[in-house]
This record gives sequence, C-alpha cells and structure tokens, in this order.
Amino acid sequence: MSDSKIIEVQHITKRFKGLTAVKDVSFSVREGGITGMIGPNGAGKSTTFNMICGYYPPTEGKIFYKGQDITDKKAYEYTNMKIARTFQIMKPLKNLSVLENVVASSYFGHAAAKNEREAKERAMEILQFTGLYEKRHILSKDMGTPDQKRLEMARALATRPEMLFLDENMAGLNPAETEAAIQLIRKINESGVTIFLIEHIMQAVVSLCEEVIVLHHGEKIAEGTPAQVMNDPYVMEVYLGKKEGANA
Ligand SMILES: Nc1ncnc2c1ncn2[C@@H]1O[C@H](COP(=O)(O)OP(=O)(O)OP(=O)(O)O)[C@@H](O)[C@H]1O
Ligand SMILES: [Mg+2]
Repeated sequence: MSDSKIIEVQHITKRFKGLTAVKDVSFSVREGGITGMIGPNGAGKSTTFNMICGYYPPTEGKIFYKGQDITDKKAYEYTNMKIARTFQIMKPLKNLSVLENVVASSYFGHAAAKNEREAKERAMEILQFTGLYEKRHILSKDMGTPDQKRLEMARALATRPEMLFLDENMAGLNPAETEAAIQLIRKINESGVTIFLIEHIMQAVVSLCEEVIVLHHGEKIAEGTPAQVMNDPYVMEVYLGKKEGANA
C-alpha cells in the first residue's frame, strides 16, 4: 500500500461576496485509496471539490497534485493531468446515445484517441466495464438516474484518469442500485484509480472509504476512518442535530 499523497490541500478558503463557503480547510488524499468527504447540506463540499478540480480557484490557500502546485490550473487542463470528475447534476450530451457520449470523451486528455476506431474501441471497453454495454444505443436523456450516474463515470473513465472525483454519485439511488454503484466504484479503484468522493449515503462511505473528512459550515470538523468520524461527538451532534438541526 502506497503512502504517498496524490492530492494535498493547504488552508483553502472560498469566499463568494459576503459568504465564506469554505474556511481554511486542509487535508490530503492517499494515492491508490478511496477518500470521502461528508457533511450536511451547504457544508461546502461541492465548493471544495470545485476548487480542487479547477472549476474556480480558492480565494486563499494552495492545492498540490503529486507535489505540483495546481492551484491556478483551469478545469480543461485537468484531463491532461490524468484527473477526471463527475458532476452532482449530471451533464451528459442529452441527444447523443450512451455510446456516442463515451466516444466523445475518449478524444480528451493525456490518452486522447487518435481516430474514430480507437475512440470506439475504448468506449466499448468502458461500457462493458461499467455495465452499460447493453444500453449503448439508448439516448442518454432517455435513461433513468442510476444509468445516467453510471454514464457520468463511464465518460470520466474514457479519459483514462489516475484520479477520479465523484460528487454525490449515488444520490437518488435505491438500496440495490446503491450497492451496484458501490461495487463499480470499488472495481474502478482496484483498476488503479485513486478516488475522492462526496457522498451523503453513509452505507457507501462506510463500505468504501479508508479516510473520511467531515465539513460543517465550511470548516473541517473531523477526519479519520469512517468508524472514527462516526463516533466523534461533534460529528454526531451535527448529524443528529442536537443543537442546530443539520439535515444530512
Ligand atoms: N457559486 C456560488 N455563489 C455563491 N454562493 C455559493 C456558490 N456555490 C456555493 N455557494 C454557497 O456556499 C455554501 C456551500 O455550498 P456547497 O454547494 O459547497 O455545499 P455542499 O456541502 O456541496 O451541499 P450539498 O450537500 O447540498 O450539495 C452554500 O451556502 C451555498 O449556497
Ligand atoms: Mg454539493
């Protein structure tokens, strides 16, 4: 098991006009592992994620990827750095088939397909891997939430990432669909991809993550194994809402 940190976040803060969405947050992500981020609605999880993924820069603080300062890198530079992400609100190319969506992604990033044959071969392999092969001719807009979430992962994988960011990839799934998603995420990780995920579904966090970071009101309030953070008195208070009715 590698001990090296693939991502290192140092004291990041994000202010939107008057609102401080993320306040002085630091943590690292172990290469080869699955790290999770949890916290009530509005805690600053997606904002943290968006800063790490180059969607917008932090107001303060620094982000390192394999020791390189990527604080000011733009989102479009990420696939070339072997980093891919999914969005909390799915963003498929709605009027294209599942296959065409994955083919399109195969043309991006460090391993971009050089021709149509290569792109299609890659897409077919990824559709098999993600369990979408039988549905490859369906228009992405005609699929239900679980398959759209799966397609988000397939599109990300088509860029051949070493690091994958998943923002609430299981929201809206029933228990059986959640279990299937957990298995796919584990399989992606076992194929050598480091994963950082935001998730409200505790079953998924507990079964997948070796390390969990807890945010609340933009601040990191705990980190550790799932068991450690779940037994942390302050985390319990935030989740059970003893003082202020957290709704996660
Ligand atoms: N672009 C933005 N402009 C202004 N405020 C924002 C922006 N993005 C997020 N916020 C605010 O920042 C805070 C944190 O939001 P964020 O989306 O990061 O939370 P979250 O932890 O991902 O919540 P959820 O679990 O609901 O997805 C919220 O108060 C939100 O309204
Ligand atoms: Mg969010």
